[in-house]
Amino acid sequence: MQQLEDERPRKRVTPYLLYCVSTAVIGSLQFGYNTGVINAPEQKLREFFQNVYLERYGSPLTPEATTLMWSFAVAIFSVGGMVGSFSVGSLVNRFGRRKSMLISNILAVLGGGLMGLSSLSRSFEMVVIGRLIIGLFCGLCTGLTPMYVGEISPTALRGAFGTLHQLGVVIGILVAQIFGLESLLGSSNLWPLLLALTILPAVLQTIMLPFCPESPRYLLIVLKQEEEARKALVRLHGREDVSDDIQEMKEEGVKMATEKKATVLELFRSPVYRQPIIIAIVLQLSQQLSGINAVFYYSTGIFKTAGVTQPIYATIGAGVVNTVFTVVSLFLVERAGRRTLHLIGLAGMAVSALVMTISLSLVKTNESLSYLAIVAVFAFVASFEMGPGPIPWFIVAELFSQGPRPAAMAVAGCSNWTANFLVGLGFPRLEELCGPYVFLIFMVLLILFFIFTYLKVPETKGLTFDQITDGFANKAVQSSGPDAVIVSSQTGSEPVPLSPT
Ligand code: GLC
Repeated sequence: MQQLEDERPRKRVTPYLLYCVSTAVIGSLQFGYNTGVINAPEQKLREFFQNVYLERYGSPLTPEATTLMWSFAVAIFSVGGMVGSFSVGSLVNRFGRRKSMLISNILAVLGGGLMGLSSLSRSFEMVVIGRLIIGLFCGLCTGLTPMYVGEISPTALRGAFGTLHQLGVVIGILVAQIFGLESLLGSSNLWPLLLALTILPAVLQTIMLPFCPESPRYLLIVLKQEEEARKALVRLHGREDVSDDIQEMKEEGVKMATEKKATVLELFRSPVYRQPIIIAIVLQLSQQLSGINAVFYYSTGIFKTAGVTQPIYATIGAGVVNTVFTVVSLFLVERAGRRTLHLIGLAGMAVSALVMTISLSLVKTNESLSYLAIVAVFAFVASFEMGPGPIPWFIVAELFSQGPRPAAMAVAGCSNWTANFLVGLGFPRLEELCGPYVFLIFMVLLILFFIFTYLKVPETKGLTFDQITDGFANKAVQSSGPDAVIVSSQTGSEPVPLSPT
């Protein structure tokens, strides 16, 4: 009982904290929206490319060349994402978290503007360059939002708030799917508006951000502005006494001062960082190589193969399931823990992939199996959102202390975007080769990721950043001897053994 009373203030959600988190997750919404927006107007964009080419050069664009140009416009978004996510580290070290978010919105306005004016200017180049810039912007969002949210959240709510990033993403995808309907903005005349709509949230976030504080961890540990950090914490957490948070950050600061400079290379060299960076990368890969975007990019085709008559509505159905289960995960993540939910999600996805394969391969002989295929796709998406969707995004911020965090976010984000790019590019070809058995490839990968998570990923629920990194440091000391000493003994904090169970 006493413990409950002690814990309650730690879990207090103040309106100001909610305001700041909501402001940040506008970035997540942007990432989701721009991921989903390109699907529906595909046909319209192909026609636009062909018309412009004909007007300009007097000869028609061949279907092959149109497809090439289309694939290019789709893939360049991920290329932008890789570069953007990799730049997060240097941007936040230079400008801080809040200003970096502000600056990144310039890209959204620029990219959205180019795409929005492309039809008027009769220029397909503007669509392609616009997608590249929007990719850069979204790459930044996938690092900036989880980092800021992770750093301003109270420890006991870090997982739940971290999941809000994914909730923003899935709502963004759903909004894009709905706005993309032909009867709304997915028509021949309105698609430029559909693509330019990303400017609005960028403007909104730009207006809201000046009322949010800079991350207190950044203020105290990097800028050494203790008073500013204290003020920000008091407002965010709604209690006057924030001395324990300040103490924890100071300990992290002491540790940071004694750590080697955390460059990307150092993350792989140092025995202290090696294990967490491997975990961070593999978790990102488990998210993307689960095949989730094979469903999100190509679901309409998959549903068509399964004999569904109105595939676009099944696709929107998948978007709704996606959103609902992210909310479920939001409520479970502080109870069940990250590791357990990730394991459950991976296992559920593997089973669903198997059922999907069976139903897709037999649907020609038994039409009623098309319903089973829909259920399997929905179960696949639901399982994804239990763990593999939200957890990899926010756990990276948890696995590292202030010094190496930006570099780690950059490496993890870039791994995610690269895997995303490969699945987007490779899936149609794989499907041609393997037909209805294509999801078996993802099933095997999912099983491998399950085994890795089971053996290597520790539970981070309820632990402070300091305790988590101390746990890794202790493990590194045990396995590599005293060379790997980080300084857990100097900080005076209680080292927590991190074991996967
Ligand atoms: C995650 C993935 C993203 C995917 C989305 C689906 O945020 O990073 O690639 O499209 O989930 O909900």
